[in-house]
Amino acid sequence: MKIFLTGKNGQLGHRLLEDLKKIHEIIATDRNTLDLLDTQLIEDSIYQVKPDVIINAAAYTNVDQAEKEKDLAYKINALAPEALSRAAKELDIPIIHISTDYVFDGTKERSYVEDDEVNPLSVYGMTKWEGEEFVRQHPKHFILRTSWVFSSLGDNFLKSIFKLVQEKNSLHMVDDQWGSPTSVETLSKAIQIIIQYLDQKNNSDVYGTYHVTSDGKTNWYLYTRKILDTLESFKVELKLKKYDLHPISSAQFPQNATRPKNSKLNTDKFKKIFMAEFSHWENEMNDTVLQMLK
Ligand SMILES: NC(=O)c1ccc[n+]([C@@H]2O[C@H](COP(=O)([O-])OP(=O)(O)OC[C@H]3O[C@@H](n4cnc5c(N)ncnc54)[C@H](OP(=O)(O)O)[C@@H]3O)[C@@H](O)[C@H]2O)c1
Repeated sequence: MKIFLTGKNGQLGHRLLEDLKKIHEIIATDRNTLDLLDTQLIEDSIYQVKPDVIINAAAYTNVDQAEKEKDLAYKINALAPEALSRAAKELDIPIIHISTDYVFDGTKERSYVEDDEVNPLSVYGMTKWEGEEFVRQHPKHFILRTSWVFSSLGDNFLKSIFKLVQEKNSLHMVDDQWGSPTSVETLSKAIQIIIQYLDQKNNSDVYGTYHVTSDGKTNWYLYTRKILDTLESFKVELKLKKYDLHPISSAQFPQNATRPKNSKLNTDKFKKIFMAEFSHWENEMNDTVLQMLK
């Protein structure tokens, strides 16, 4: 298949490019080759390439900074996906778009299913929701909501903590926000399953919104503890000792953007329809740390 990919230098985009180029023709773009602020250029580029499918792995992902850059976040997270899906509709090809757990407000006690009511608490969550709604205007869409993405490349929580525990001798982490850390490997696997499905069936009857995360859930404090345990098991010298890691509440740690208390996504729909299984985040984190130590 000929695949048009945005965000090739991001955490997910990089993984996708590596995985998909083995079997498909990939036209992979980044900010230099396709600035997503230019919606006319987005459409022109797609009409020129005439791909079989579009994957949008680019986004404005700085959750706190988005509170100060609402207009920019809206352009990248909502208007760019609108242009991408408009071009997909015009060419009658599918689009795979990535969204976030932060479209929910976190007040539900159980895990969120795809049809649950959204209520974003932040500019990032709101602009991602607006992007989803634009993409839904094209019937041939897959919207994959995910959460707490990590990879050995790029900026993410795992990499920040990896650095902090080797430098700091005291750390406070929030213990009242729950979710599922998700490896780029799991996300890439889900997207490859969809591509394979499209390749074989051509006319897919399974378009729609899906939740895709690694298995398991945690909070930021317990996540940090797990990172500490993992690094200790690999005999990495740490400045931070376990007893120097302290749980705090969200109220004690104000951030520009408000996060949901519970953003655990229920992945049963994807697993059932595509007969897929995902790995537990702890095992994947172990593998990612190993890669980072190489
Ligand atoms: N990271 C998470 O924890 C998380 C959680 C839930 C959902 N998601 C979603 O998952 C998807 C992938 O996230 P990720 O973590 O891989 O993101 P990422 O590492 O931040 O990558 C985003 C990419 O988008 C590109 N981009 C931003 N503005 C652009 C513009 N104007 N023109 C062209 N490219 C632009 C960035 O380019 P530069 O490198 O040049 O800036 C970057 O390569 C996104 O849809 C995100 O919203 C992520």
